[in-house]
Amino acid sequence: MYLGLDIGTSGVKAILIDEKQRIIASATAPLKVSRPEPGWSEQNPEDWWKATLKAIAGLQRARPKALSAVKAIGLSGQMHGATLLDAKDHVLRPAILWNDGRSARQCRELEERLPELRNIAGNIAMAGFTAPKLAWLRENEPRIFDRVAKVLLPKDYVRLKLTGDHASDMSDSAGTLWMDVARRDWSDELLALTGLSRANMPRLFEGTEPTGTLRPELARSWRMAKSPAVAGGGGDNAASACGIGAVKPGAAFVSLGTSGVLFVSNRHFSPNTDNAVHAFCHAVPETWHQMGVILSATASLEWLSGILKKPAPKLTGALGNRLAGPSPLLFLPYLSGERTPHNDAAIRGSFMGLGHESDDKALTHAVLDGVAFAFRDCLEALKAAGTDVARATAVGGGSRSKLWLKIIATALDIPIDCPAAGDFGGAFGAARLGLIAATGAAPQEICTPPKFVATVTPDGKTKQAYEDAYGRYRRAYKAVREVMT
Ligand code: XUL
Repeated sequence: MYLGLDIGTSGVKAILIDEKQRIIASATAPLKVSRPEPGWSEQNPEDWWKATLKAIAGLQRARPKALSAVKAIGLSGQMHGATLLDAKDHVLRPAILWNDGRSARQCRELEERLPELRNIAGNIAMAGFTAPKLAWLRENEPRIFDRVAKVLLPKDYVRLKLTGDHASDMSDSAGTLWMDVARRDWSDELLALTGLSRANMPRLFEGTEPTGTLRPELARSWRMAKSPAVAGGGGDNAASACGIGAVKPGAAFVSLGTSGVLFVSNRHFSPNTDNAVHAFCHAVPETWHQMGVILSATASLEWLSGILKKPAPKLTGALGNRLAGPSPLLFLPYLSGERTPHNDAAIRGSFMGLGHESDDKALTHAVLDGVAFAFRDCLEALKAAGTDVARATAVGGGSRSKLWLKIIATALDIPIDCPAAGDFGGAFGAARLGLIAATGAAPQEICTPPKFVATVTPDGKTKQAYEDAYGRYRRAYKAVREVMT
């Protein structure tokens, strides 16, 4: 048995798989985000740990024997979050998350102070990344900054609780902006730029390598005979890629989670900092990946569902499954600012074209379209970076809406493959990485694609109308930027 844990933004998921990679049990525990100021986004690291214990307790209740037979654990998690620890590993303040935009000014300053930054990191300084958050902390909370002994990513804080080790993997660490991503190592120059050094960082491992073993007291409480190894694992996108089998060059997926991601696996490190394309290490050795990231995918629908006081599936369900054309309303999903292609932490969302007739259905349709257009922006950014995405596999909670997938396939003009019912996200990918770490199996042989039950193709009848609506969406960003920021 292998245990995969995904420390997401909306919850922790735990999955047990057997030697044949069949899912034996899964359990989740929810998490909340706190937004103390507009544009801020924080969570308490202790809540990740409590939710992890709760999810594992769920597995123990459902399949106690299977849990006690776990041979290795893999970790996946929301990327970029700054978990700040003192010399005794005590948490110094709430973690600042991937969709927190407070450090936009610090990003500009870091790039000015080190003009080679983009070359070393292979990425633009973006407000969601970890290093700019520490630059913000140094300026705004200097007393806390002075006490920072270690900075860990969310899943690596959970690893610390599980094993007592400060360790991380290449894919998640690539999103800190402290790494020389081509060399798969920390960059002393980038660290020094925010007043830190290697001593403040965890040790780096490949996602497929063991980083340590489970603390004996935890192994005992889960009735495990032997303390299992804990694998490096990956950032949630790289781990999802392992889950969905996107490890071979060119393999792509579109993820409809809290964030939205268009992800492509690359044989070589392929940075292209124009258009805010992310270029990171993959969770398997000698492999990299590119991705376009939008900050509010299902987060946009959840926001609307909160306002309209109707659950998201009810909102999408009311639209039916037939696509008649784009919504006459335009929605810009920039509730937390945007990364790809704008790298703009200050921009905010908009509805345009509202009339007395605009009801819940019209608003929901506009949100689905707006997120699809944001994915189209990611596709165009990847194209400009020389990467052609011919088709993609759908992952994430939002992909349960067939209508949303039809809209995305039409707006992107590519077919989208739907896996058979099952769970192929970060937790499953993490369990696979645990299996590889324990058995030494070849990643390509374990991280294979699932069976597809359907392919959602672009809708010929509405394609041109979507193309026209995308043109309006592109122009709307510029107009809103001018008027609102
Ligand atoms: C990727 C990113 C998000 C988070 C969400 O760069 O910020 O996809 O990983 O969990």
